[in-house]
Amino acid sequence: MTVGTGMGTSLLISVLLFQCTFGALVPVDPTKFKVGELKWSNCTGEDVVPGAECGYAVVPLDYFNSSAGVAKIALGRFNATAATRKGSVFLNPGGPGGPGVSLATVSGPDLQQLVGEEYDIIGFDPRGIGQTEPATQCFASPEARQAFIANTVLDRGYDVAPDVQDPFNRYHLIQTQRDADALYQSQFQVCAQTMGDGLRYMGTSTVVRDIDFITKLLDGEDALINFWGLSYGSAIGQYMVNMMPDRVGHIVIDGILDAISWTSVPSYKWERTFLVNTDDVYKLFMSECAQAGPSQCALAKSANETGQDVLARVENFVNQLYWSPLAVPNATAPGILTSGRARLFLMGALISPTSWPQAAEVLAQAIAGDGTAMLDAVNTKDLVDLERSAVSCNDHAPFKAPTPAEVIDEQLYDQAHVSRFSLTVVVSEPDAGCQFWPVTPPERFLGPWNQTLKNPMLIISNTLDPATPLRSGRLALERQGNDSARLLVQNGPGHTSLALPSLCTAQVLRAYFANGTLPAEGTVCEVDASPFPTETNTTAKVLSIDTSGRQNTLDSMHRLRKAIFG
Ligand SMILES: *[C@@H]1O[C@H](CO)[C@@H](O)[C@H](O)[C@H]1NC(C)=O
Ligand SMILES: *[C@@H]1O[C@H](CO)[C@@H](O)[C@H](O)[C@H]1NC(C)=O
Ligand SMILES: *[C@@H]1O[C@H](CO)[C@@H](O)[C@H](O)[C@H]1NC(C)=O
Ligand SMILES: *[C@@H]1O[C@H](CO)[C@@H](O)[C@H](O)[C@H]1NC(C)=O
Ligand SMILES: *[C@@H]1O[C@H](CO)[C@@H](O)[C@H](O)[C@H]1NC(C)=O
Ligand SMILES: *[C@@H]1O[C@H](CO)[C@@H](O)[C@H](O)[C@H]1NC(C)=O
Ligand SMILES: *[C@@H]1O[C@H](CO)[C@@H](O)[C@H](O)[C@H]1NC(C)=O
Ligand SMILES: *[C@@H]1O[C@H](CO)[C@@H](O)[C@H](O)[C@H]1NC(C)=O
Ligand SMILES: *[C@@H]1O[C@H](CO)[C@@H](O)[C@H](O)[C@H]1NC(C)=O
Repeated sequence: MTVGTGMGTSLLISVLLFQCTFGALVPVDPTKFKVGELKWSNCTGEDVVPGAECGYAVVPLDYFNSSAGVAKIALGRFNATAATRKGSVFLNPGGPGGPGVSLATVSGPDLQQLVGEEYDIIGFDPRGIGQTEPATQCFASPEARQAFIANTVLDRGYDVAPDVQDPFNRYHLIQTQRDADALYQSQFQVCAQTMGDGLRYMGTSTVVRDIDFITKLLDGEDALINFWGLSYGSAIGQYMVNMMPDRVGHIVIDGILDAISWTSVPSYKWERTFLVNTDDVYKLFMSECAQAGPSQCALAKSANETGQDVLARVENFVNQLYWSPLAVPNATAPGILTSGRARLFLMGALISPTSWPQAAEVLAQAIAGDGTAMLDAVNTKDLVDLERSAVSCNDHAPFKAPTPAEVIDEQLYDQAHVSRFSLTVVVSEPDAGCQFWPVTPPERFLGPWNQTLKNPMLIISNTLDPATPLRSGRLALERQGNDSARLLVQNGPGHTSLALPSLCTAQVLRAYFANGTLPAEGTVCEVDASPFPTETNTTAKVLSIDTSGRQNTLDSMHRLRKAIFG
């Protein structure tokens, strides 16, 4: 699962170095780059903070076959600013596919507010992603990949009839699913032809070995691993502590993905457990909007409306689109606004509550007949190629291919009983189709997930996370055991604890990284901002009563959220 950009869900860096004009595996020359080499230089790119460095580490392409070649892992670093340096903290922002290097080079000082100035902040682009080489490049260019999916179900999402139980709805969705399956198969065959065996070396097990390898390069053979992973990054963290329990220093996972589902349950069955809080977040969006009223929320019509009134208006709009899509001639890429696309937009908004005032504005415009902003938002795609599938499919144990009817019947159950965004998420979180994945990675960690840790890890879940529910945080704790992990609950909506700032969560993080101090069992942190700031309850107000230290921390959390969520 991803930390989203507020509108679309996935996000990604786009500058791929060493891009060639056709899709192909471009191997790193092992005669020029030697395993163990670590190189730093100045960064290029926007918003780089003074003192940040960019570079790479050369690692074995395959940890089980030294003749397979090498990989260059792109790194960003922001050094410890305190006199006493304690080591490095690695960060992962989710995805798979989120921008790793810039977490250090753009957000390094803000991250130090949370983990402490004694740590170097290390960002990295995981295998197959961003500037790390070899890159996942199945298609000739991002544009070629976009052209492949344009206006297919993988682009516009599924259109679900207002009456989910309508037999024609089932028939229509099965037909759509047949397209989806052929599209997965086709794009993975493209990938097999252009990248071949090069695709085997992506995946979370390998990423964990990279982090271990680079920690030793940076901090010495005995240095323990420190890591903070958000969303999909919580999978890296869970692999890490269970693959290498003795290497664990301080590990935080935040916005928890259920590792057993991720590795061993076919993705079309995930929504049943992953989306258990999604519709409650949607209802909260609408009720906060109603409470904020027309002056703050463009979807509210009068001061005395209920959330239910606003929700009904939005649902009515989405349902109308099912029967008659809206022409959108003025979008950057002109097209049509379908119910599937409107749901993709809404799901993107649920990820990031601070986007709600703006999302309400975009919704109000579309309801009034102008879908420009909404179509532009859903057309902003962050993944440039199949880098996400390269991670999720390599991670996934083989499974029996479901028939289109099996997928749709599972999804129709979820639409009716779990969340009206179930089929939306199949597209916004593109992990499906792995039955067609053409390669097997050298290593695929599938548990067990209950290793005993000398240094317990910290698990953070929000009460209302639309993509990685509290339930998964509790499961991770239960599997790891009370002596090896502690769960911190943040009482608020959105995806990961960064969705809304919380001084309490910041203090817990700081104490944990300082000396391993865990919050008391059952600790619940409140958030210090609301999605629709009002005069009597604003972030500004909270800030004004804070000491400057707390204000700095809140400011850092706001900037960090913006850097990651867009
Ligand atoms: C990197 O930046 C620093 C400070 O701006 C500058 O002094 C130095 O010459 C740069 N190094 C390289 C290799 O460009
Ligand atoms: C960061 O620290 C390393 C030593 O750990 C040092 O070699 C490097 O020059 C430092 N970078 C900057 C920009 O000061
Ligand atoms: C190791 O990699 C080399 C080069 O790709 C390959 O020829 C060889 O078969 C691999 N060995 C194993 C045991 O997979
Ligand atoms: C809500 O307020 C409007 C005026 O702003 C009024 O016309 C309407 O009757 C009120 N509705 C209810 C249910 O109170
Ligand atoms: C598109 O833009 C044109 C020119 O600005 C305007 O006349 C028209 O109303 C717009 N159409 C829609 C559907 O927004
Ligand atoms: C850990 O999980 C494995 C696999 O589920 C199980 O066989 C084993 O008994 C568990 N170990 C402990 C200590 O609970
Ligand atoms: C872990 O702690 C919780 C809360 O104190 C308790 O309910 C649960 O039984 C404990 N689990 C184990 C396996 O001891
Ligand atoms: C650990 O660090 C926190 C935050 O700096 C501090 O409040 C606490 O007293 C420390 N605890 C121990 C046992 O050193
Ligand atoms: C501010 O708003 C949040 C969310 O709506 C709420 O939980 C909190 O209690 C409010 N705080 C105050 C001081 O009113």
